[in-house]
Amino acid sequence: VIHELYAQHWRDYELLDSGGFAKLERFGPHILHRPEPQALWQPVHNETYWKKADAVFTQKGSHSGTWDWRGKQARPANWHIQYHGPGYNLKFKLALTAFKHVGIFPEQAANWDFLYRRVTELKAITPVPKVLNLFAYTGGATLAARAAGADATHLDSVKQVVSWAAENLKLSSLDGARWIVEDAAKFVQREVRRGSKYQGIILDPPSFGHGAGGERWKLEDMLDGLLADVGKLLDPAGATLILNCYSLGLSPLVLERVVQARCGALAKHVEIGELYIAEKTGRKLPTGVYARF
Ligand SMILES: C[S@@+](CC[C@H](N)C(=O)[O-])C[C@H]1O[C@@H](n2cnc3c(N)ncnc32)[C@H](O)[C@@H]1O
Repeated sequence: VIHELYAQHWRDYELLDSGGFAKLERFGPHILHRPEPQALWQPVHNETYWKKADAVFTQKGSHSGTWDWRGKQARPANWHIQYHGPGYNLKFKLALTAFKHVGIFPEQAANWDFLYRRVTELKAITPVPKVLNLFAYTGGATLAARAAGADATHLDSVKQVVSWAAENLKLSSLDGARWIVEDAAKFVQREVRRGSKYQGIILDPPSFGHGAGGERWKLEDMLDGLLADVGKLLDPAGATLILNCYSLGLSPLVLERVVQARCGALAKHVEIGELYIAEKTGRKLPTGVYARF
């Protein structure tokens, strides 16, 4: 079965409309208009509706390749939003970054809920499950793991997003995560050599990326090798894994096959599917594919 999954518990986030290669979203008090390569259809609402945006991420000049945010008045500075998951609450700092991102991938809340639940279950095996969050960005999954009482390790190759995640942990009234700025593949190889074991591993790799030392990351070339190491780090007595990919080209069945090949008996009941955002118009905006157990 290929599932369709979306985050059901947001109050501070809404996808208002999408189309014409753009999306209109509300993050707490602010409405943002951003590019969305997958929205090849027409928007449901008219131009006047889209003018509600407080800031639009657009190309600066007609010919220059540089993009920036343009606001109605001053562009919003940093602000906070909350996520009320089943059994836990998180708080995030948001900001308009130069790369169109704002510090959160709201669809991932469906995976945070799953992780929170799985960590709670894994306490039957070990009182403080160890969770490793790779490509961890601003830390949604790290926060959910800590909220559930896990010993959480957060890794990203970009120092600034790791500090951002640390701020989010504090904002959420949580503490005690381990922060690592490194290339994901390198760290995982070292952990295999050390014989480390984890009860939970989350990976949300980009299509292309760079390690902290400039190491090249290309999803299709490196996913299988990374999962081979990840499989060795998972506790055979019981573990959870969440793999999410934004790459447009990978199908859920590809993830299923790689995960089953590399995680052995643990992956017997792997759930696979497509993640989407439930738009206010009643339509679906696909955001990526996932495999988890
Ligand atoms: C798609 S984002 C993850 C989104 C996040 N899981 C969430 O839902 O909020 C990918 C992250 O991987 C990081 N990254 C890219 N290449 C990396 C590498 N080789 N090693 C570690 N992190 C890397 C980027 O800095 C970025 O924060």
